[in-house]
This record gives sequence, structure tokens and C-alpha cells, in this order.
Amino acid sequence: MAYACGVDVGSTQTKAVIINEAKAIVGRSLIDTGANVVNAAQNSYENALRDGNLSEEEVEYIVGTGYGRYRVNFGNTQVTEISCHGRGAVHMFPDTHTVLDMGGQDTKAIRVDASGEIVDFCMNDKCAAGTGRFLGAASSALSIPLEKLGETALKAEKSVRISTTCTVFAESEVLSWLGKGKRIEDILLGVHQSIAKRSISLLRRVGIEEEVTFTGGVARNIAMIEVLNQGLELKMNVSEEAHFMGALGAALFALDNILSSRIPTGALEEGS
Ligand SMILES: Nc1ncnc2c1ncn2[C@@H]1O[C@H](COP(=O)(O)OP(=O)(O)OP(=O)(O)O)[C@@H](O)[C@H]1O
Ligand SMILES: [Mg+2]
Repeated sequence: MAYACGVDVGSTQTKAVIINEAKAIVGRSLIDTGANVVNAAQNSYENALRDGNLSEEEVEYIVGTGYGRYRVNFGNTQVTEISCHGRGAVHMFPDTHTVLDMGGQDTKAIRVDASGEIVDFCMNDKCAAGTGRFLGAASSALSIPLEKLGETALKAEKSVRISTTCTVFAESEVLSWLGKGKRIEDILLGVHQSIAKRSISLLRRVGIEEEVTFTGGVARNIAMIEVLNQGLELKMNVSEEAHFMGALGAALFALDNILSSRIPTGALEEGS
């Protein structure tokens, strides 16, 4: 049995996934990327090997993706995160036509065709206001851990309209609303709505065609799912593996490489 690995070195978190030839995940790892990107890639790979009880020799091909993909110096090749999120999403939900990847620093709207090929994509500009970073700013301003943001926001009664469009000012706006006596839950719902609004306009730029699949770390936030579903007036697909979707897509590309290299060249020519 051969194994394939995808390592997604994101701006915020590094994800590694190892799959077997049946495309089942057998090992994984999720760590913060931190300042040393090379170490993050190496550590996440080693953690995933340990998680799957595998040795390096058993992994035949490794694909790096994410903003730090060229730092996966033990990898065999690199594939862009747009392609990897598209591939992962279509693998999990074959009727996917639109993918929304919300990470720590970037939000990407991706259109894919029936075979999972990328047709178009659109990314937020340099500004991180529609991304996980904005949530991180709210989380630290309100002293609520990231994992609890979603459930807290869903307890809102009346959302507070967040007017800042800049992550740098998000924290001070949140604090100023607190000072004016607004409830934490209501402020947080407003923060989610402001991020969702930006993501929906990105999606509109590539065209929203169902099914829509939500990937990236922010897809673990239940309020973000809810608010986006309301704004889009549909129900997005959200996999348990949403956070690992880019790494999974990379691992699937790696597996393609292993399997295609096994087809003798003569056989390919005969078939064509
Ligand atoms: N358990 C969790 N609950 C809610 N949100 C989470 C959780 N874990 C991570 N997040 C969110 O996911 C974000 C990180 O997502 P992800 O790992 O997809 O980003 P990335 O790939 O590093 O960034 P990018 O793609 O922008 O380079 C964090 O900023 C945080 O907002
Ligand atoms: Mg990412």
C-alpha cells in the first residue's frame, strides 16, 4: 500500500493529511504556522506520520500547497491552494460548483466545473477584513476563544452593525460598542455579518452556482455558516474535514501522481 501526503502551509495554520490508495485519511496534523514556516511544514508532516503510525518511506509522493508551499522542501511538487481547495471540495461533495475558502488571512471564492477544474476565482485584496484575522481580533478584544465565537454569536438578540472595514480598527470598534453597553453576543453577531457580507460579494464576482461548499478554518465557526447560509439563501456543504480541505486536495493530487506513474507508457498509448 502506497500513501500520499498533502501539506497546506497556510498563513495562520499548517495542515497535513496522509491518504491511502482508497483516498481515506489515515493521518493528519494541524498546528499554528508561526514565524518559522519551514519548521511548521516539517513538524506537521512528522505529526501526520506519527498520527497514521507510518514511516517516511511509506509515503511515496508529497504535494505542498498554501502560501508557504515553496517551504515544503521535502515535498515533490507544489500546487496552488485554489486548485487544492477546489479538488478537496469536489472530492467530498461531487456536485460542488462554487467553493468558499475562508482562512486566516485570505478569503477565496472559486468556481469549479463538473470535473473539479478551476473555472474562475477571486480573492480578497490585501485587506484581511473579510477573513479569520478579523474574527481573531474580535476574539482577543472580547477575551472569547476562537472555538467559542460562533456559539456565542448565535445567542445574539439584536446584532450590532460593525462599520469598520479594517481589521486594525476592529478591536477598537468592538471595545467601543462594549463601552456603550452593547451585549457581547450582539456585537459578535455583527462581526460575523460584516465578514459574511464581504465574502458574499466575493462569491458574486465569480458567480454563485449551487452546490456551494465552504472550506478553510473559518468553516468550523457555526455562526459563520449560519450567517452565510442566510445571506446566500441556500445551505452550503460543510464537511467535518473543512479545515483540512486544501491539504486533502493536495494529497489527492499526490495520489494521482503515484497512480499515473504506475501506468506503463505503452498502455497509455494503446488507449489513446
Ligand atoms: N476551532 C475553530 N473554531 C473556529 N474558527 C477556527 C477554529 N480553528 C481555526 N479557526 C479559524 O480559522 C482560521 C485559520 O484557517 P486556515 O487554517 O484555513 O487559514 P490559513 O490556511 O492558515 O490561512 P490562509 O489560507 O488565509 O493563508 C483562523 O484564523 C480562525 O479564524
Ligand atoms: Mg488556507
